[in-house]
Amino acid sequence: MAQRPQFAGWLSDTNDVTATFLAAGQIPGLINLGGGLPEPSTYPAAELSALAGRAIEEHPHATLNYPPIDGLPALRDLLAKRFTTDTLHLTRDNVIITSGGMQALDLVGKVLVDAGQTITCQSPAYLGAIDAWKPRLPSYRPIKLEDDNLDLTAAFTGAQFAYTVPNFSNPSGRLVSLEQRKAIVDAAHATGTWLVEDDPYGSLYLDGEPLPRLLDLSAAQKPGPYDGPIIYMGTFSKEVAPGLRIGWIIAAPELIAALKTAKQGSDMCSSGLSQQVVIGAFEQGLPEKILPNVLATYRARRDALLEAMDEHLAPFYEWERPVGGMFVWARARDPMLDTNALLKEGLSHGVCISPSSVFDPEGTDRGGVRINFTLNTEDKLREGARRLAIATASLISKHRQAA
Ligand SMILES: Cc1ncc(COP(=O)(O)O)c(C=O)c1O
Repeated sequence: MAQRPQFAGWLSDTNDVTATFLAAGQIPGLINLGGGLPEPSTYPAAELSALAGRAIEEHPHATLNYPPIDGLPALRDLLAKRFTTDTLHLTRDNVIITSGGMQALDLVGKVLVDAGQTITCQSPAYLGAIDAWKPRLPSYRPIKLEDDNLDLTAAFTGAQFAYTVPNFSNPSGRLVSLEQRKAIVDAAHATGTWLVEDDPYGSLYLDGEPLPRLLDLSAAQKPGPYDGPIIYMGTFSKEVAPGLRIGWIIAAPELIAALKTAKQGSDMCSSGLSQQVVIGAFEQGLPEKILPNVLATYRARRDALLEAMDEHLAPFYEWERPVGGMFVWARARDPMLDTNALLKEGLSHGVCISPSSVFDPEGTDRGGVRINFTLNTEDKLREGARRLAIATASLISKHRQAA
């Protein structure tokens, strides 16, 4: 048989961690602390079902036809209004609807990055962003926001864009301080570099008051219709439910126009039915209605996990208490501990974690684990932490024997 053409080069640069992770779903009794899913019982199923029925009845055209590439005008208007403040002036020209936050990341890569160009990236970084940009063959300039000597202007200069998750980064759970938010925005304004503010967790403040968005800080510097460097990404996924696959980008009109061109060649349009349901959900105040229960559930789970980690995991790891989001980021005390190996060791002890290598744009970090606290009950979280301690001790003893 004639030889088939090879797959594109970027596909050869994958690791077996993701495959191991996906196969883990089949293991009976496994406690999965490795994912990043919301608690499904928080989804307002009855309300969304009623909205979906009504959406088709009342808007058969908008829901069943191909909607416009950049989204239903009513949803773009609604989001422009929702995000408008005294200093941030938005119109629908500042908004494009995407198929989830994932597509927002993909489209930004498509319109801004040619092979070899630089992305400045908060590190550790969201695995999905790294995956989305892989086919663009970028060169990464990772930055650690906790680094006291970080020179943001140097880090941004010459990059196509900088990427950050200021609210409870995935995986680190870190909240970027107000002072640092201002410094990041200043660096974007000074260098002209586009700045992606990826914000799926902005509604999930478990403690304290929300800090201003980079988008708001940027707009305050230059009043008038928004034309600045921030590319704000929002999503319905963590605020209400991920299955509708609706996200949005708010940015300068020239970037929105380029994103529209990219979206045309990507999926042409996002589901009109989902968009119409999201319009109804916002109009009914559904996100605000379910939020207290979501926060109470996640707060109790976070606290249960942290308590169990104090009890079982303190000899092996150190971590900070996240004040929101979905994750605890734990760093191994023993530099020998290889968390890629811990993923496999954990599975044999009935617990799954995410190893740090998949969140490292350069793929080399083996010293951390991301632990999710939103999907499992408090009892399961406690048991998961106990199993993780056993798996860690077992792996450390194997490493020592091999040394
Ligand atoms: C940082 C970050 N960005 C974007 C997304 C994409 O979310 P979705 O595509 O469900 O909107 C996620 C999902 O976990 C995330 O953690």
